[in-house]
Amino acid sequence: MTFAIEMTGVTKRFGAVVANRNVSFGVRQGEIHALVGENGAGKTTLMNVLFGLVQPDEGTIRINGQTVVMDSPRRAIALGLGMVHQHFKLVPSLTVAENIFLGMEIVRGGLIDRKAQSEKTRQISAEFGLKVDPDRRVSELSVGIEQRVEILKVLARGAKIVILDEPTAVLTPQESRELFRILRRFADAGMTVIFISHHLSEVMEVSDTVTVLRDGAVVGTRPTRELNEDELVRMMVGRNVNFDRRPRKAISGRTVIELKEICARDARGVLALRDVNLTVRSGEIVGIVGVDGNGQTELAEVIAGLRAPSHGEIAVNGITIAESHPRAMREAGLAHVPADRLARGVDASASISANILMGRQYAQPWAGRGLIRWGRVREFARGLIKRFDIRARNEKTLVKTLSGGNMQKVVVAREFSRETPFLLVDQPTRGVDIGAMERIHDEIMLKRDQGAAILLISVQIDEVLALADRILVMFAGRISGEVDPEKTTEDEIGLLMAGGAERPRAAA
Ligand SMILES: Nc1ncnc2c1ncn2[C@@H]1O[C@H](COP(=O)(O)OP(=O)(O)OP(=O)(O)O)[C@@H](O)[C@H]1O
Ligand SMILES: [Mg+2]
Repeated sequence: MTFAIEMTGVTKRFGAVVANRNVSFGVRQGEIHALVGENGAGKTTLMNVLFGLVQPDEGTIRINGQTVVMDSPRRAIALGLGMVHQHFKLVPSLTVAENIFLGMEIVRGGLIDRKAQSEKTRQISAEFGLKVDPDRRVSELSVGIEQRVEILKVLARGAKIVILDEPTAVLTPQESRELFRILRRFADAGMTVIFISHHLSEVMEVSDTVTVLRDGAVVGTRPTRELNEDELVRMMVGRNVNFDRRPRKAISGRTVIELKEICARDARGVLALRDVNLTVRSGEIVGIVGVDGNGQTELAEVIAGLRAPSHGEIAVNGITIAESHPRAMREAGLAHVPADRLARGVDASASISANILMGRQYAQPWAGRGLIRWGRVREFARGLIKRFDIRARNEKTLVKTLSGGNMQKVVVAREFSRETPFLLVDQPTRGVDIGAMERIHDEIMLKRDQGAAILLISVQIDEVLALADRILVMFAGRISGEVDPEKTTEDEIGLLMAGGAERPRAAA
């Protein structure tokens, strides 16, 4: 079999950081090749080199046997490559169809034929089993739907070699399965697929070959069938990682947050939440699951004070919140890990310290007499870098130079280090590696044991099953069922998420 891609001796440095160290990486035509490794191992950098976004310091690239100088993404695209980026590159002010046809617009009589573009988008959306509404503006989409648009955009361009950098981080297990079915069909037809993922079960299930990176270097390339998940973990991190369900605590205390008959409209004015009633008590983790687009985004926004409800009430510690505003919610005691770290979680152009300070800048002991006490902030940031294992040179490192998973850790570290009675965590482990996931899960349990009320929203059902004391299923803007994590299965939850038989909620 021929190699579609051969990267030889690739080294890439960013100042003192060696992101890729003499990497040799070969992908056969027609295979699905998984690229795995811890946060900061160099996966995205290697793919950016392949796609012409980053120029290597050393090394060569051959595509279908031909040596090429990959000096721009344009050249990569011309050679048949397509890339789905870890951080989305869609234009927020354009519609889904306009994004998909960006640069290859359907033109009629000198004008863009929007109707044809929408129609074509609908077709490919159906063909690839990734549901999107062609005429919605990207700025109104949830991260899961944005991910679908990113994937469709690349597939629609007819790429022969497709790179997907963590395409499933915000997809539900069902959506991921559907995506992999499509990729398999493509690979069978001769297309070459590289995908990056921290979900090792998915890697085991879907890939033909796995390459493991560690600290920028290749640990090995092996046929998937010769590996098991434990071996893969050892190759990645050099130790075993434990994923058992956590012990549950039956005792929960007073009600910390209460939503009464909340209704809210989405960005287009369509009713997205319908009479949502919800309480989270001190010392409990309530999990919310649902297929993206069933109201979870709006629910999180309402609780975070980012979206005003059209009806209903929110109370924190028994006090009704009069005005819906992020600062009002924070002052009432909310800590919030948002689903979209780059849009809402961090200021990427600022340092880790400055990001850790966000939300604390008015408070003792970080500020006094109108001045920020940077010495204290930096010392505190150094402690968090250690505690959350953020892979960075130091606390002055700019967040935009961190790997995706390490950016996520910065947001989690900032929010979890606040002494608040209530945490809203939306996809808390998005894009983090298994070691970091274990760490974040430990921190969530610790918060619960200290008496925090936690609302956990996640498309990763296994994560919710492992952590939550109660699980609520959302469907069509309502809470359509409640299940006991001790007694349910992923399949049962999957059925409820798809709008299957409603299950009465246990009396609260
Ligand atoms: N533009 C940049 N400037 C400085 N350092 C960078 C830059 N881009 C990446 N790095 C560093 O290179 C290393 C590899 O990062 P990369 O994003 O490739 O990791 P990754 O394997 O994709 O991790 P993740 O799983 O978290 O996405 C990290 O130490 C990162 O901080
Ligand atoms: Mg990455």
